[in-house]
Amino acid sequence: MGDRRTVIVLDIGTSKIITLVAEVDDNDITIIGYGEEKSQGIEKGTIAHRDKLKKAIVNSIKKAEEYIGGNFPAIKSVYTNIFGVGLESKKASESIEFEEEDRKITKEDVDELYKRVEEKLKTPRSNFEIIHILDQNFILDDGSEVEYPINSIASRIEGHFIVITIPRNVYRNLEDLIRDAGYEIEGMVANPIASAEAVLDQDEKDMGVVVIDMGAGFTDVAVYKNGSLDYITSFPFGGSLITFDIAYVFKLPKSDAEELKKEHGVASVERIRENNYIIDVETREEEIKEITVVELAEVIESRLEDLFSRVKKKLEEDGYKELPKGGIVLTGGEANLPYIREIASRIFKADVRIGKPNRGYFGFGDILNNPKYSTAIGMLLFKKDEYKKYTDISNPLPDFGGLKNKATSWLQKLKNLFH
Ligand SMILES: Nc1ncnc2c1ncn2[C@@H]1O[C@H](COP(=O)(O)OP(=O)(O)OP(=O)(O)O)[C@@H](O)[C@H]1O
Ligand SMILES: [Mg+2]
Repeated sequence: MGDRRTVIVLDIGTSKIITLVAEVDDNDITIIGYGEEKSQGIEKGTIAHRDKLKKAIVNSIKKAEEYIGGNFPAIKSVYTNIFGVGLESKKASESIEFEEEDRKITKEDVDELYKRVEEKLKTPRSNFEIIHILDQNFILDDGSEVEYPINSIASRIEGHFIVITIPRNVYRNLEDLIRDAGYEIEGMVANPIASAEAVLDQDEKDMGVVVIDMGAGFTDVAVYKNGSLDYITSFPFGGSLITFDIAYVFKLPKSDAEELKKEHGVASVERIRENNYIIDVETREEEIKEITVVELAEVIESRLEDLFSRVKKKLEEDGYKELPKGGIVLTGGEANLPYIREIASRIFKADVRIGKPNRGYFGFGDILNNPKYSTAIGMLLFKKDEYKKYTDISNPLPDFGGLKNKATSWLQKLKNLFH
């Protein structure tokens, strides 16, 4: 048991901005407030209209406040997702030989490994910010691999880490925008990690799995192996390309194309051929345009094939020629397209399932059980684990639960010193 505290997460997406207010303790997350606002100002993965985005963020947060109503204090600080061109992962390892042979490993030793990883990466010339340092595993002496090394006895410890970075200008722009909107930043969570937290279970992480979150403007990818995160990447393109294609092919305004996709869009031509029907679309000139579902599916399927092929190529280039046994979990708003699973399965030659954020929280389940909310829910789950580390005094080794996330907090403290 620990204290309850209020956690506020902000998921800034290309199509929508979600604010979730939750009461969090060691055991449970209870969502008590929710705000959703149409996003504006993010184009091609970049903040193109700062003021429009700022306004949308403020509106989303205000909606959550209004939802709760009563005497709920005005929201002053938020955990935000971090997204953008150049978000990536790097591997790092560090080791310490102890002067004294066979001694108990302490929390300070592990902290020291984290610190060395950070110092090695953060040179005066480095042009990126470190978002997370996450440990993958620790090797003691000449080979035994452990997940939680504290209190084990050894003469040497080696830590293997995955470090998530983003170009400094991308980081600063987002940070500055949120501060400018009037909110403090309590922490940041990288998009692909948040989405994966919401849709994966431990078995899948152990078996190895690839999560693909296809939103409107980004396609975020996270690979897990042997129980921990192994790789992330983020492409500055997503489902809005499908919408653009529909608009272009059928000569429709983007908003109509978007509606057409959501209402009648199907990812597989094969699946709809037998049930083809005509959709009457009213044009701006108030004429009726006839489009068949098969014609629409052709546009959607070919763009999806293109997007998945680009993801596959990048995964191959970065060392995942053979995909992990757990296959692929698809999430993000585009995962709502009927039969998208089959197209992904064909391109990746792997098992594919759709991941919905339907576990680990109470409240709003009917509304939030949709792949487009994976990032927001995943941020809450990620933060809960971090919190647990500080409150779980019944745990004889209190640092264990938090080892995988611990760097976020001390990095944040370090960063605060410099700002
Ligand atoms: N029912 C649906 N059928 C088809 N497409 C859908 C459906 N619901 C949402 N989408 C598509 O999903 C996309 C939005 O997904 P999502 O909400 O995950 O994106 P986002 O978080 O706003 O953007 P980002 O890519 O920046 O994370 C849009 O392109 C939208 O057209
Ligand atoms: Mg998103």
